[in-house]
Amino acid sequence: MIHASNLTKRYADRTAIDGLNFEVKKGEIVGFLGPNGAGKSTTMKILTGYMPATEGTVTVAGYDVFESPLEVKRSVGYLPETPPVYKEMTVRDYLDFAARLHGVEKQGLRAAIDRAIEQTHLGEVQGRLIGNLSKGYRQRVGLAQALVHNPPVLILDEPTVGLDPKQIIEIRNLIRGLASERTVILSTHILPEVQATCSRVIVINQGRIVAQDSLDRLTARLQQGKTFNLMVRNRSSQALEVLRSIPGIKSVAEAPQASELVTIEVRPEATDIRDQIIETAVKQQMGVLEFFAEKLSLEDVFLQLTTTEETV
Ligand SMILES: Nc1ncnc2c1ncn2[C@@H]1O[C@H](COP(=O)(O)OP(=O)(O)O)[C@@H](O)[C@H]1O
Ligand SMILES: [Mg+2]
Repeated sequence: MIHASNLTKRYADRTAIDGLNFEVKKGEIVGFLGPNGAGKSTTMKILTGYMPATEGTVTVAGYDVFESPLEVKRSVGYLPETPPVYKEMTVRDYLDFAARLHGVEKQGLRAAIDRAIEQTHLGEVQGRLIGNLSKGYRQRVGLAQALVHNPPVLILDEPTVGLDPKQIIEIRNLIRGLASERTVILSTHILPEVQATCSRVIVINQGRIVAQDSLDRLTARLQQGKTFNLMVRNRSSQALEVLRSIPGIKSVAEAPQASELVTIEVRPEATDIRDQIIETAVKQQMGVLEFFAEKLSLEDVFLQLTTTEETV
């Protein structure tokens, strides 16, 4: 349903996204997961045709975003990071406006608006001014304008940001309900959001995709064994042999490119054996210079994601 190939966006002084390749199949709910500044909104603006890419191509529902912008806008419902809701309009008037903008035919207008209002549970407030609604209701209005032309694809940029826990649950349920016959991409900087709604995750960090997989498989990968690096003055084969015999160590290898570096892989089931590694290295008179964990970029991302969770 969506194919992005080598998507790159450079602003004057920085590269926001750098060579993204991904695909979203019909009926999938995919989460763009990444810390603030990762490039999620930039990618979404390009997918929806609101901003051109510097390089690369995107097709949505078979249409090239750059060559067929009108067809793409008709196929896509977009909730931008700041929804374009007009405070001085009533909910119903605003949806009427959004429907016309998306090319809904005159004779179908009323039914389209009624359906969007029903799907987002806005019936009670349809006659009220948007400016007088709570943040949760305004977010639903944003969703309603994305849905009003009944598009097969929904692109939702941080749909629950700024909502209270009750409103978050409501919006997530709403999205899950909408997803049954649609293809959905939503972005978020918090892990529980994808856990609650998405079947697959594309993890973006610093403008690059660092992982794309089901959430279960990603979590499993993160729980695999760790790798530690040991910098030493003397890596005698006898000392390495003793290191290898520590229970829980999977492999000990001499890094070919740096004559002082030893790479130690630890089995996933091993409890923390850093003390033993260092003790052994000292006893074997290896001359320890440094000892540090090798970080996967994915692990870094997840760390950032999980530590920012409570600030939402
Ligand atoms: N209009 C712009 N001009 C210059 N830099 C921008 C602009 N919009 C976004 N950026 C930069 O691009 C990067 C990605 O931003 P964004 O796509 O908004 O990330 P996210 O939505 O993941 O938080 C950030 O470093 C941001 O500062
Ligand atoms: Mg954003």
